[in-house]
Amino acid sequence: MPIGQHFNAQLERHLPAIAEHYGTPFHIYDERGINDAAGRLLSAFEGLPFHEYYAVKALPNLTVLRMLRERGLGMECSSLAELELARDAGAIGDEVFFTSNNTTREEFAAAIEMDAIVNIDDISLIEKLPRAPSIVSFRFNPGPERVGDRLIGSPREAKFGLRRDQLLAAYERARELGTERFGLHAMIASNVLSVEPLLATVAMLLEIEEQLQRTLGISLEFINAGGGLGIPYRPTDSRLDLGALGRGARELLESHSFRTGRRPKLFLESGRFISGPHGVLVTRVINRLSKWREYAGVDAGIAALLRTAMYPDAYHHVTLHGDRGERRLQRVDVVGSLCENNDKLAIQRPLPELREGDLLLVHDTGAHGLAMGFNYNGRLRPQELLLRSDGSVELIRRREEVRRDYFATLQFEADVFDPSAPSGLPPGVERIGDDARTPAPVS
Ligand SMILES: Cc1ncc(COP(=O)(O)O)c(C=O)c1O
Repeated sequence: MPIGQHFNAQLERHLPAIAEHYGTPFHIYDERGINDAAGRLLSAFEGLPFHEYYAVKALPNLTVLRMLRERGLGMECSSLAELELARDAGAIGDEVFFTSNNTTREEFAAAIEMDAIVNIDDISLIEKLPRAPSIVSFRFNPGPERVGDRLIGSPREAKFGLRRDQLLAAYERARELGTERFGLHAMIASNVLSVEPLLATVAMLLEIEEQLQRTLGISLEFINAGGGLGIPYRPTDSRLDLGALGRGARELLESHSFRTGRRPKLFLESGRFISGPHGVLVTRVINRLSKWREYAGVDAGIAALLRTAMYPDAYHHVTLHGDRGERRLQRVDVVGSLCENNDKLAIQRPLPELREGDLLLVHDTGAHGLAMGFNYNGRLRPQELLLRSDGSVELIRRREEVRRDYFATLQFEADVFDPSAPSGLPPGVERIGDDARTPAPVS
């Protein structure tokens, strides 16, 4: 989708100099755009008991997380690393919402140690808690009650959440273990551009709130409708009507409170809506290749932006920096250098005839972009920059380097174990170099 006016104007004017200074490729994020989107989300729910927990997985960069903490957002985390990032960003206690799945005991321990809200994904996992968290929530999976979407899939096939018939027993067990404060969570769809599925989730959670009160006498402190607020990746996509979402949620909560006398808070844990449109991947055309199709080979690929290869419908708009409409359009695949044919940022896309040296902007990479990056073929993840509101640009993550980063895990203490020896190797005896499976340490 078209990027924000200020961001666009700054990139239009200064991108060649920024690319010259930092080198390509890089993701660059717009401080003003991210702050404004967070502000718009908060205003849509103004007057309601509402809290947004930014989904750390969307853009796990400390500088951005600190910015969002300053804006008053909590942090939604799903792993040890994300919990640590949230803590470093200044979030602790009920400003941290821990929504993991297939969770380890260590992860629960770390979340409880931070006094985070612990959102439990399976009934069996209650027994893995090292002690009772202050606030427990359960993730609900409605199965056949809802259809889901292409990104998360049908709830019946999703690996997340508890079935309806497991919910009551789960709350009872958590209460038995000593937890007294409760909430309820569900995330059914992702990148949703219409408000109906999101409001259906709010209504569904409120209905369960009534059931919990009726059967167990539990009043939920909050319902969390997850993330999933969509953004228009394609120029033809509509925008999510945030005003309608806020109004719809207000009506549901008010009628619930009128009927029951209870007013649970509404939580969201949106990532994409806040930062997605306010980042672009900047990459340079390094080769023009001609095969059965025309290709523009660029200096980034799916190792820097996996979405286009991971989801069948994923689309990221691509524009040429400085395009004045003077070049004729040509259909190309924009490709990286992986030995994988799905290493394509755009497929059969009509773009102004590209030349070596051109700077391309791959749009909407501010969420689930670099965060999903990987290192296949020794391709290294690029740097991250932040365009500050005052127009300055700041490096907020350096680019990976071969020896310092990619080879870092090849530097380790020798550790050879003989499982067939009755008691392993005698103390003090090391076997180095004669086991072909053990690589020699790199110095
Ligand atoms: C549990 C959970 N919460 C929140 C999010 C954030 O979703 P989005 O960035 O689409 O708002 C995700 C995305 O994967 C998720 O899995």
